[in-house]
Amino acid sequence: KWIVDNDVDENESYPQIKEAAKLLKKGEVVAFPTETVYGLGGDATSDQAVDKIFLAKGRPSDNPLIVHIGYKEQLSSIVTHVPMKAEKLIEQFWPGPLTIILPKKAGLSEKVTAGLSTVAVRMPAHPVALALLKEVNLPIAAPSANLSGKPSPTLAKHVINDLEGRISGVVDGGPTGVGLESTVLDCTGEVPVILRPGGVTKEQIEEVVGAVEVDQALVDEKEAPKSPGMKYTHYAPDALLMIVEGSKSFLQAKIEEYQKEGKRVGVLTTMENQTFYQADVIKTCGTRANLVTVASQLYDTLRSFNECELDVILSESFPYDGVGQAIMNRLTKAAGHKIISE
Ligand code: TXA
Ligand code: MG
Repeated sequence: KWIVDNDVDENESYPQIKEAAKLLKKGEVVAFPTETVYGLGGDATSDQAVDKIFLAKGRPSDNPLIVHIGYKEQLSSIVTHVPMKAEKLIEQFWPGPLTIILPKKAGLSEKVTAGLSTVAVRMPAHPVALALLKEVNLPIAAPSANLSGKPSPTLAKHVINDLEGRISGVVDGGPTGVGLESTVLDCTGEVPVILRPGGVTKEQIEEVVGAVEVDQALVDEKEAPKSPGMKYTHYAPDALLMIVEGSKSFLQAKIEEYQKEGKRVGVLTTMENQTFYQADVIKTCGTRANLVTVASQLYDTLRSFNECELDVILSESFPYDGVGQAIMNRLTKAAGHKIISE
């Protein structure tokens, strides 16, 4: 069943959202938009519902899910304790793209947390997500609504392409916005640790709570990540994707090298550089003047390369600060850490 509901007004009541809530209460799984990416929701207190999520995505069961709530008050029924720094961050960034890891309370399905003693919680900022979560009034486990390994969905059609026939429905709220998953922040220790960079930047978090650490695995690919999901290959398009660090003419020379080998070559660039290159396919992803636009279009652009029958995709690289941190984290994973430097 495909529940379609574009053009949402926060103050209206929608039969589609009621329908989706009913399915969730019955233990079914339904996809819905959030401000980051589409999520695949299921009742976080039900083993059967959580099983359905893992099954639909083909997700390894040792990779825990984020629990979504519609009211801040629900937090105390999920976690044992909210440290001062976490409280400040919640005050500042919820609803929004910040997921907080805290010590978990009994009551959730053990499968949500993959047996860990901690739980990831977030309150999304999308009006459809909030309306749905409030209507259900249950903690909802929701990973990104893609097949495991594919780029996360930023449009309902991405969800349908990946999961049609495997889930009970999708609420279509149009394009998601941020376009990359939430920042995952471990708040169980004295100093908060970023396990996954995302919509809320390190700089923004530091403004609220002072020093923040970054999981070493994000910096050094040989380290084992603390967030189980970060060890898996992700987001990869069908063609061989490589990131090119250096000048535009260096990238153009690389294009020609591969073309001489008889390969069909695509380029991932931005608006300002698109006319510079000559390749088989050129796709633009936002503007460098505002990296938020790159983040919001990245996954759709990666997915759309799959329609082009390419052998190689060469991507420009992006600065590592602000939201660039999250962009480069996802792009590097999509490229399997293959970077060509001038
Ligand atoms: O933006 C988002 O966060 C989206 C939308 C739907 O809300 N959700 C999302 O969920 O990206 P998922 O399941 O694809 O990613 C959850 C990440 C994984 O890397 C997982 O390993 C990590 O959070 N995680 C979950 N619980 C954890 C825990 N207790 N400790 C450490 N990492 C955890
Ligand atoms: Mg995911």
